[in-house]
Amino acid sequence: MHPTFLILVLTATLATGQGNRYEATTYLNGEPVKEESYQLIFPLEATAPHANLVAMIPRPLSEMSLCYWARLHRDIEDECGVIFSYSVDAILNDTAAAMCSGGRGVRFHRHQEVFDILFSLVPYTWVHVCTTWSAITSKWQVYINDQIYRTGYINSGFAIQPGGVVTIGAVQDDAGEGYESEVLKGQVTELNLWDYVLSSKDVSRLANCTFPHEGNVIAWSEAMWEMYNGARFAPVRLPCFGKPMLHKQYN
Ligand SMILES: *[C@@H]1O[C@H](CO)[C@@H](O)[C@H](O)[C@H]1NC(C)=O
Ligand SMILES: *[C@@H]1O[C@H](CO)[C@@H](O)[C@H](O)[C@H]1NC(C)=O
Repeated sequence: MHPTFLILVLTATLATGQGNRYEATTYLNGEPVKEESYQLIFPLEATAPHANLVAMIPRPLSEMSLCYWARLHRDIEDECGVIFSYSVDAILNDTAAAMCSGGRGVRFHRHQEVFDILFSLVPYTWVHVCTTWSAITSKWQVYINDQIYRTGYINSGFAIQPGGVVTIGAVQDDAGEGYESEVLKGQVTELNLWDYVLSSKDVSRLANCTFPHEGNVIAWSEAMWEMYNGARFAPVRLPCFGKPMLHKQYN
């Protein structure tokens, strides 16, 4: 294929953007509550939509907390949609998180070890998920909607290496080329990555939108995404904002 043709095809499918123009904060009893943000939408009708983080992971991570809100757009048995996939050098999908339909729940993947946390995901219903992992204690934890759902131990006792590519919405099949595996059809917002293990208090504050800090490795409001194949940005009112507890205090 002629090189200029390739460049044209790339620019036609790529849109870059940053979402912080959508940020909004409300105060509740003097406490800041994040109310609005931007979301990434991976539409049903698109083929292999995905988003790549423009920045790289700058340093090795021997601990991490990955938290996000997401909702799936369909419920098909045996189907997983990849929320986060990190690939570095030849190791594709070294660290990943997915949501799976048919009651299979939330999946955490670290270097050939895969953990499935059974949970019934209702299509079009937002779920808040945090996965923490530490190479120091070997412990991992998955929180769903502010509760610890499962804790386990992992063999991969080495750090996540820097310099790789973060993808939301699909897995890189081969050196950033194919993105057809486990394609997500749904929405993702407030995905943040920290280089330490958040406490359960921090996680419940994230789930009710009162945690004041964004990720120190990926901060959602500052992240720049390259959008491919029909993935798009839109403003979103955060799901925690509609929680009964918050409504009550507002009325
Ligand atoms: C990548 O990680 C996801 C999420 O944990 C997992 O579902 C999938 O099987 C992995 N894919 C490959 C090709 O390793
Ligand atoms: C949010 O969660 C934290 C931790 O559980 C709690 O202390 C706080 O009162 C909650 N705030 C709201 C507004 O629900």
